[in-house]
Amino acid sequence: MRRVFVALRVRDGVIFPHGLAPFVPPQFGIKLASDGWERDAHFRLRRRVFCDEQRLFSGDDRDDVDDVASPIVAVDYVMGMAHRVVGTVRIAETSPGLWYGSRLAIEAEYRNVYGLGSGLVFRAVTTAHARGARTFLANVQRANVPFFRRLAWEALEDRDLFGRPHTLMRADLAAYPPALDDAAVALFDSRRAS
Ligand SMILES: CC(C)(COP(=O)(O)OP(=O)(O)OC[C@H]1O[C@@H](n2cnc3c(N)ncnc32)[C@H](O)[C@@H]1OP(=O)(O)O)[C@@H](O)C(=O)NCCC(=O)NCCS
Repeated sequence: MRRVFVALRVRDGVIFPHGLAPFVPPQFGIKLASDGWERDAHFRLRRRVFCDEQRLFSGDDRDDVDDVASPIVAVDYVMGMAHRVVGTVRIAETSPGLWYGSRLAIEAEYRNVYGLGSGLVFRAVTTAHARGARTFLANVQRANVPFFRRLAWEALEDRDLFGRPHTLMRADLAAYPPALDDAAVALFDSRRAS
């Protein structure tokens, strides 16, 4: 009898054969993180991206902003069921009318395919707009400035943060109408899945 051994990788509770791309379902929801599992998964994703991958922080990237911020998550859906948090961003009001977005992160194998980063930025700014934002800013890693420019953001000032080049950017709120129903899951099909 012949035996075939397959190396398996485990990523955030999902097992898939080593060397093969994991199954990527084409439907996602973008929503405020309301359940405990969503909040736990969003912290794990942030750790993978900002600590393990980018080495911006060692061990944990949580800070005081997390005490007041609203995390937003991109969740993939399999057969109509929420499956996994694959993207996140957080929003927080720092003074009346002034909001910041931060910790935008997409799971590596979901980047540049599904529009999730753009979708999270849209959800973040439209949600803050509905909550009274008159200005929405973010300290953007310099390499991502072109990504934000395409989404109607303008660069205000270059600065170094966490030992890396960043640029303070501002969203054009006219491009982000207030999203009043902030509890709803905005489900969308991948724009590039066929
Ligand atoms: C930056 C990031 C959030 C983008 O999310 P994403 O889901 O891959 O982006 P989208 O699918 O919405 O958009 C992809 C488009 O933006 C472009 N894009 C992505 N990153 C870019 C960058 N740094 N500069 C210019 N364009 C960029 C892609 O080429 C693609 O263009 P296309 O639509 O013409 O094909 C994601 O790459 C990420 O999580 N990176 C690691 C963490 C990080 O850097 N966070 C941002 C901190 S400021």
